[in-house]
Amino acid sequence: MTHSRLLFTMMNNPIRAWSQRLLETPLLIGPRGALAGQRVLEIGCGRGVGVEILLGLGARHVVGLDLDPQMISLAQKRLGSMADQTEVFVGDAQAIDAPDGAFDVVVGYGVIHHIPDWRAALKEVGRVLRSGGRYYFEEWLRGFTSARAIRALFGQPQVAVFSGQEFRSGLESSGLRVSVWREWGELGVVGCADK
Ligand SMILES: C[S@@+](CC[C@H](N)C(=O)[O-])C[C@H]1O[C@@H](n2cnc3c(N)ncnc32)[C@H](O)[C@@H]1O
Repeated sequence: MTHSRLLFTMMNNPIRAWSQRLLETPLLIGPRGALAGQRVLEIGCGRGVGVEILLGLGARHVVGLDLDPQMISLAQKRLGSMADQTEVFVGDAQAIDAPDGAFDVVVGYGVIHHIPDWRAALKEVGRVLRSGGRYYFEEWLRGFTSARAIRALFGQPQVAVFSGQEFRSGLESSGLRVSVWREWGELGVVGCADK
């Protein structure tokens, strides 16, 4: 199996969807109603499971973007019946096609470490958030992305390898102030940052 095929399989199965819905989102964002009335952007939305979940938290409108046209086509099929409250498109988080301050909330489920110019992507998150808006993130850190077994599985070098401190400073230089930071020993972090 190729590296990209392996990642595709890991991201597109019922266990991943279950984890995103019942473990990751409640830990990262909160319960039903947590996004009531908000305009939300998910960067790296993949097949659209996250968009569906975020709408279920009460968001008014959810936009998803992903670099991979195949993922966006899967997302469009999944979200067909919710088309009045969702929009998904092929796009690059390093240059988001949206005006300044367009969103109340931006969410990234493990996408920044896939982006070569990850600092540019964080700057874009800061730009498209309104003042007072919030960015929720879950990310793998250097201890995980540079581990020998992970490099062997997914290829090396990993696209973007950063420490917790580097990720934090990327957030701060994008005009985002960390308000929640739960880190597991340089392996991964979940948290949020406010503009
Ligand atoms: C690990 S997958 C996560 C997918 C989905 N959010 C999930 O949690 O199942 C990372 C996703 O980011 C997308 N991606 C990678 N680089 C990107 C970029 N520069 N801009 C937008 N999406 C990107 C990939 O195509 C992939 O769908």
